[in-house]
Amino acid sequence: MHFVDLILKKRNGGRLSEDEIRFFVSGYVEGRIPDYQAAAMLMAIWFQKMDERETADLTFAMRDSGDTIDLSAIAGTIADKHSTGGVADTTTLITAPVVAACGLKVAKMSGRGLGHTGGTLDKLDSIPGFSTEIEMDRFRHIVADCGLSIIGQTSALVPADKMLYALRDTTGTIDNISLISASIMSKKLASGSDTIVLDVKMGNGAFMKTKNDAECLARAMVSIGRTAGKKVEALVSDMNQPLGNAVGNSLEVVEAIEVLSGKYRGDLCEVSLTLAARMLLLSDMAEDEQAARQMAEDALGSGRALDTLAAMITAQGGDAGVCANTSLLPRAASMVSVTSPKSGYIREIATGEIGMAALLLGAGRATKADTIDLTVGIWLKKRLGDYVNEGEELAIFHVNDTTKLEEARSRFIGALVLGDKPPVKRPLIHAVIS
Ligand code: URA
Ligand code: CA
Repeated sequence: MHFVDLILKKRNGGRLSEDEIRFFVSGYVEGRIPDYQAAAMLMAIWFQKMDERETADLTFAMRDSGDTIDLSAIAGTIADKHSTGGVADTTTLITAPVVAACGLKVAKMSGRGLGHTGGTLDKLDSIPGFSTEIEMDRFRHIVADCGLSIIGQTSALVPADKMLYALRDTTGTIDNISLISASIMSKKLASGSDTIVLDVKMGNGAFMKTKNDAECLARAMVSIGRTAGKKVEALVSDMNQPLGNAVGNSLEVVEAIEVLSGKYRGDLCEVSLTLAARMLLLSDMAEDEQAARQMAEDALGSGRALDTLAAMITAQGGDAGVCANTSLLPRAASMVSVTSPKSGYIREIATGEIGMAALLLGAGRATKADTIDLTVGIWLKKRLGDYVNEGEELAIFHVNDTTKLEEARSRFIGALVLGDKPPVKRPLIHAVIS
């Protein structure tokens, strides 16, 4: 097989066979196919697309490029969830302990964030003493004992994705449904869970800006899961404003703990409980949707979910005291109030821009090499549809380094569109794809 022939085949609109796709993935991972040829193939795929069968074959070839995790020794059903990424999207830290408190086992391997804010691992790193680098055997024990463990993806898990994602990132080939779904699902399938609920974000703070694109991505991933013989379901949820009020790593842990303590509800709580109920239902832990929702509500309301999070934190070396007293989490040196330059209803929020403002304060990475300041970020005081008076507080910035404070403030103010009338209220969950 000459790889240039496969590039030509795809460029001209042909369908690649399973063997040809495996030749591509293994050839690239093992260094026989150079970057320039792999990049040409990715661009051919971007223009000509892949059908369902090709997308599944690409996913399985990527999954098989490294280690796969065997969790079969753990009794009970192992559930996983995945979000395609948004701003103030702290659902994992709420949903995972909720379902674990209901008896589902959650063995989660998470990534670090690139862009706006940190990923789940960065957030967990802000808990004093907490380790996300845990040996596989210990990971399995923690899942069996506490019902929940969240660790970092080992470098041996889907090496093909690490290489291909870096290449896509620099060749304008990230935004293709087949490449995104193969990237996400190869990692999910290699992680060894029995059931997977996907949270596909849709809106101005997400990869997928329209309902149609989000549903296409959701359907592609559910189809791959079904072909692999796993139970997979996807929600399409709204990302036209930050989901929670906290944007930034330790701040998001504070908010997750406040939600788990029953201090307040709101959109983050609602999406987290909806995800939890879908996970319970998909894993046959409940009779129907209503019963699943009730189980999730009870786990949260009784405090059992918070206790489960505390047990995981202790098992992974962290100070579980943060669950009772969030002031034990590291804080930034100063808090700066950001007020509204005019009065009106908040009609629109450019969600990605809020993420960028937090990034300017140091909460996210502009490049892979950047280090994150885990303590800084933004705590929103107003949401879509709220009325604000001129001079009223919109948010509190948690700040250490003030060099980009004014840039962050103007970016934040510029992200809000105020008007005379309230906006039309949008649903939080747009669709369930199963
Ligand atoms: N997240 C991933 O893991 N991969 C993609 O390609 C896009 C989002
Ligand atoms: Ca099992």
